[in-house]
Amino acid sequence: MVDLRTEIAGVRLRNPTMLASGFLDETGGSMARVYQAGAGAVVTKSVGPEPREGYPNPTIVELDAGLLNAVGLPNPGVVEYEHEVRRALTAGAVVIGSVYGKDADEYASVAARMATYGVKAIELNFSCPHAKGLGTEIAQHEDAVRDFTRAVKDVVSLPVLPKLSPNVQDIATFALAAEEGGADGIVAINTLKAMAITPELKMPSLANRYGGLSGPAIRPIGVRAVYDICEKVRIPVIGVGGIGSGRDALEYIMAGASAVQVGTAIISKGLGVFDAIAKEMASLLEEAGFASVPEAIGVAHA
Ligand SMILES: Cc1cc2nc3c(=O)[nH]c(=O)nc-3n(C[C@H](O)[C@H](O)[C@H](O)COP(=O)(O)O)c2cc1C
Repeated sequence: MVDLRTEIAGVRLRNPTMLASGFLDETGGSMARVYQAGAGAVVTKSVGPEPREGYPNPTIVELDAGLLNAVGLPNPGVVEYEHEVRRALTAGAVVIGSVYGKDADEYASVAARMATYGVKAIELNFSCPHAKGLGTEIAQHEDAVRDFTRAVKDVVSLPVLPKLSPNVQDIATFALAAEEGGADGIVAINTLKAMAITPELKMPSLANRYGGLSGPAIRPIGVRAVYDICEKVRIPVIGVGGIGSGRDALEYIMAGASAVQVGTAIISKGLGVFDAIAKEMASLLEEAGFASVPEAIGVAHA
């Protein structure tokens, strides 16, 4: 029997699957359901200092390649979110708090507040590709990634996990900047900046025009990103992007990820996807002669 337990910067997971930020994580009840359905951990919706409404509809378009979204980071703000996190924790979930801000001070203050709720780690959303001034713009500057990470590290004692954008020339240099800022791990990747047009309407399909592409189309990009990052940094990496099966997850693990996050696949496969991924991983690992997840991490590196 393969041991599926893994660990990220001291956070122990019963299996390597985690709920990605932005899916079924607006309430404590839904996060608890995802955990009960088999996820190793859940990541909260990214929350900021103030409530934020997000963009007008349409905010999500289903494409054959995946999902295009520009929801615009709707969230109730970190203060209002406390009871949702506590509800998920009371139900036994391992919760990682995702935060954003517009500058280093905001990241630090939102993270410090989130850290008091009982979460096991802080994920820094440096990478939303469509919220003006918040995601991509930070993700494009190595100095900002380093300094914002440092600012959060200075005020929280939990593991800090910057989530990076693939919308850059060389994501590994950003991972290095995060490591220099004191990051305890890296999450890669967020969505890719993309666009769809509805010919019948002669206009962009999203109200925001641009959005972020997720789902199966981005998996090879995510796998490459994780592989490159693992060649450059020593801290653990969490892989995310287009994972919907145990085989998909194993690609990321063999590229060097210690755990994986799952988002878009929940929409087509339902909550059972976490258990299905874990079970398939276990049988594939067994067939390949591995007794545990850590044994398989990074084996694709020569
Ligand atoms: C509707 C939607 C909302 C999202 N919201 C967030 C968010 O609040 N914070 C964040 O870091 N990533 C967010 N993401 C990105 C996902 O966490 C993930 O990085 C991305 O979707 C790729 O994984 P997937 O292909 O498994 O969906 C969102 C993605 C979608 C589709």
